[in-house]
Amino acid sequence: MDTLSPLPLSGKHVALGVTGSISVFKAADLASKLRQAGATVEVVMTPAAAQFVTPLTFQSLTGRPVVVDMFGAAEAEAHVEVARRADAFVIAPATADCLANLAHGMTPDMVTLTALATTAPVLVAPAMDNQMWEHPATQENVVTLRNRGVEFVGPDAGRLASGRSGLGRLAEVPQVVGALRMLIGQRSGDLAGRHVVVSAGGTQEPLDPVRYVGNRSTGKMGFAIAEAARDRGAHVTIVTGPVALETPYGIHRVDVHTVAEMLVALEQATADSDAIIMAAAPADYRPASPAEHKIKKTSDRGTLEVELVKNPDIIATLPAGGVRVGFAAETRNLEEYARQKLPAKRLDFIVANDVSAAGSGFGTDTNQVTIYYADGQHEALPLMTKYAVGLAILDRVAARLR
Ligand code: PMT
Repeated sequence: MDTLSPLPLSGKHVALGVTGSISVFKAADLASKLRQAGATVEVVMTPAAAQFVTPLTFQSLTGRPVVVDMFGAAEAEAHVEVARRADAFVIAPATADCLANLAHGMTPDMVTLTALATTAPVLVAPAMDNQMWEHPATQENVVTLRNRGVEFVGPDAGRLASGRSGLGRLAEVPQVVGALRMLIGQRSGDLAGRHVVVSAGGTQEPLDPVRYVGNRSTGKMGFAIAEAARDRGAHVTIVTGPVALETPYGIHRVDVHTVAEMLVALEQATADSDAIIMAAAPADYRPASPAEHKIKKTSDRGTLEVELVKNPDIIATLPAGGVRVGFAAETRNLEEYARQKLPAKRLDFIVANDVSAAGSGFGTDTNQVTIYYADGQHEALPLMTKYAVGLAILDRVAARLR
């Protein structure tokens, strides 16, 4: 695995079961995205699925043979072998017929056969007409499968192949990939059962109803840590300032604007947390008295004075929260300033980044950080993706939790 830009599913063997629905074309994209995420993907299809998209499409996208015919596979006992190799089995799309067969242990095709033969976690992404999804027979099958530990992602509401609208659309590919990463983490990750709280983004302190004091944080660093924690099995809460990022699958998101709001949200979130990682950039100061109405430009004065008052230091104020990790964003004297913050904020360690360095800090997809510890040690990490920085931080958090 490339430790500077590790892929979330590196080293994982994913079996992908495809059944006959018009949404099979999305499964081709899913197979491709799973491979791009680092997984080895093996596809098994029903004959009905092969009517919509040929096995050759999946074979080309995964670089592996695809099994449709239970009796014609190149590998003897193909269903058992695919099932045995899998770290997870995803069925997408799963038809009503497939759910019925799964619920009753029936194995008329390679998909249901693989499901019965595997001990790996199973994730099902249903796709069907809304009336079929809502039918009591299907709903009973879903309950049976859930009780058996099968996980579901979707179906989504929206326009269906029939032209009607309703619940029955195959979940979007990023959601299926996110659900799979979460499922694998929960079953085998070193943070399974832990609650990790992450803060992200900058705060906005109002100056008047249309303006604020803010900073350049985009939330990328915090969101990357949150995704990495989810992938390792943690239940993750992210408390974020206003950012333009989608909420990653399975992560509980709390949106805030100001330091005061972030403090309240983090006090609640950390009441039962095992770790708090402060990647947010909360404003140190806020306008003392935000104007009730928009401040007007006056022609007679060339300056505008705004009094700023100190905000509370959030991490220093939080009572505990488990393992406490802070960040230091500096443009000079990185070590000196980072070390000063360690005891003042009662941190286990602090992740220092020079936000003026190329490829580091605000808005980038990479970061170069040095970690300073309370006992005086430090570790300088190379320039890595923010996801890799997140994994590195979580290695150290997990070690402290053990
Ligand atoms: O979001 P990105 O665009 O990806 O950018 C990432 C980042 C540069 C914002 C991130 O890597 C980072 O450095 N975050 C910390 C930013 C910051 O506020 O640093 P600081 O040195 O001013 O604060 C030190 C620590 O105290 C931080 O953990 C901060 O979250 C915390 N703090 C700061 C002020 C405050 N009022 N309360 C706090 O808890």
